[in-house]
Amino acid sequence: MGYNKENYKRVREEYRTKYLRAYEEAGRRMEEVHAKSSELAAIDRELSLTGAEIAMAVIGTGADYKEKLAVAKAKNLVLQEKRAGLLTALGYPADYTLPPYECQKCKDSGFIDTKMCDCMRRELILAAYETSGLGELMRTQSFETFDLSFYGAASGDRSRMQYNFDYLKKYAEEFSPEAENLLLFGATGLGKTHLSTAVARRVIERGYDVYYTGAIGMFSDFEFARFGSGTERAAAEPTRYVDCDLLILDDLGTEVSNQFTMSCLYMVLNNRINLKKPTIINTNLTGKELKARYSDRIASRILCEFKPFIFAGQDIRYRKKL
Ligand SMILES: Nc1ncnc2c1ncn2[C@@H]1O[C@H](COP(=O)(O)OP(=O)(O)OP(=O)(O)O)[C@@H](O)[C@H]1O
Ligand SMILES: [Mg+2]
Ligand SMILES: [Zn+2]
Repeated sequence: MGYNKENYKRVREEYRTKYLRAYEEAGRRMEEVHAKSSELAAIDRELSLTGAEIAMAVIGTGADYKEKLAVAKAKNLVLQEKRAGLLTALGYPADYTLPPYECQKCKDSGFIDTKMCDCMRRELILAAYETSGLGELMRTQSFETFDLSFYGAASGDRSRMQYNFDYLKKYAEEFSPEAENLLLFGATGLGKTHLSTAVARRVIERGYDVYYTGAIGMFSDFEFARFGSGTERAAAEPTRYVDCDLLILDDLGTEVSNQFTMSCLYMVLNNRINLKKPTIINTNLTGKELKARYSDRIASRILCEFKPFIFAGQDIRYRKKL
């Protein structure tokens, strides 16, 4: 699993805070009920004594330690029942002074033994959505909302798109950090961003670190890191582009190309390919145009290391407006 390190650190910290908050709240409630009933306070003092007796009996080795343990446990039980009765009489639930954990299964520790609790896995997924760069796209673009009837059946577009859809869905379901690189190309409005967002969502749900970025945004992040200028958004650390399990680089070819952007692109692609980390590139450019626009070293990597998918049809932005 490739949970993003920063997210993991943050979520662990949140759990620590949550746990402490529940623990402190239990202490506060204890004081509250003791202030209302001195009998209850006395029982709690006795209970801490029987607790100690039980602990002593458990580690004891004498011949009669089993009997001592049984006696202490019975005494403890009677006190507990009496205590619950008193709490109820005061109008409190019987478990009022236990720490009010959000998750009873892991007691807000995030783990059950050494296994991560579902609640923490969910938190990590939410954090991954937030830091994925997908933003609003996530709301509407998924495999479920991808409609193949937008593509003409007679022209063969639909069967081509059905193939793309099936392949990408399987890719997302079976994603591993050594998955292959994909190149989605075709004219505007044909679902490249939509399907790559769908892949991102599914891969995030499966616990991987996915980063989605438009080409312009990526170069602007690098510019910011290098020159301290050139971005209007919170800049991502350039290492994020190489570290993530799956990078989705959208709209390649829309950036202004110069030596700087070329060397950034080369660096990202080359590093990811060497590390065998998968990337999905979306572009409106054809193979020929890619060759014309990028250096041989970049074009050869994109055209030889990425599995191509042609997107066909008529601009769905217009079709959806009709
Ligand atoms: N098959 C589809 N079913 C439903 N909605 C779709 C489908 N394909 C695309 N759309 C919608 O049409 C709009 C354009 O699609 P998308 O952004 O994926 O196109 P694109 O291929 O990335 O275009 P561009 O090259 O301009 O970036 C989006 O709102 C998207 O959700
Ligand atoms: Mg797009
Ligand atoms: Zn839990």
